[in-house]
Amino acid sequence: DAEADWTTGGPAGPARQAELDAVAREVADCSRCQLSLNRTNTVAGEGSLDPPVLFVGEGPGEEEDRTGRPFVGAAGRYLDKWIAAAGLDRRACFIANCVKCRPPQNREPHPDEIGACLPYLERQIAALAPRAIVCLGRIASQALLGTSTGVGALRGKVHDRRGIPLLATYHPSAVLRDQSLRGPVWEDLKRLKGLLADG
Ligand code: URA
Ligand code: SF4
Repeated sequence: DAEADWTTGGPAGPARQAELDAVAREVADCSRCQLSLNRTNTVAGEGSLDPPVLFVGEGPGEEEDRTGRPFVGAAGRYLDKWIAAAGLDRRACFIANCVKCRPPQNREPHPDEIGACLPYLERQIAALAPRAIVCLGRIASQALLGTSTGVGALRGKVHDRRGIPLLATYHPSAVLRDQSLRGPVWEDLKRLKGLLADG
């Protein structure tokens, strides 16, 4: 329904779908950076048209590159638990990444690659107008907040990103490697839950 009441601002449903489709098509053909050279599939992102939360990771891993879907490997299965712990359903949210093509050997994306790809994520944010953004890990947190501050210092508070509340937290892969990060992530998920309940 074109006149549907969306929970936040941003374009109406059909315009959202059209813009998300356009982004995915352009990403599928993109060669703006060298990550295009080794990819199997692009991973534009997926989820609801009217998400309470947009989760932003770093970039596709092996499983994501193979399937074309975000967060479907070990980190993704862990993220699914985080989403449930925040009282949400993965399919009701939207999940995307800073870069849409897999970096070789899962290395971190380089600043020039992030810079080349970020306009796609910006268009997704503008189309979806999520109630909140959760950045998973240093790369996403620094890219969306435009800072070089570490994620440990960025987490623990609600940032205002151009009118959208943004939480930074650790990356699920990092938490799988380091159990001491579980407590802080749990706090961040509680903060997210509270933020959504307030709004
Ligand atoms: N790690 C990420 O940052 N993104 C994915 O999609 C999968 C793993
Ligand atoms: Fe294009 Fe982004 Fe893929 Fe680079 S990572 S080729 S900018 S879609």
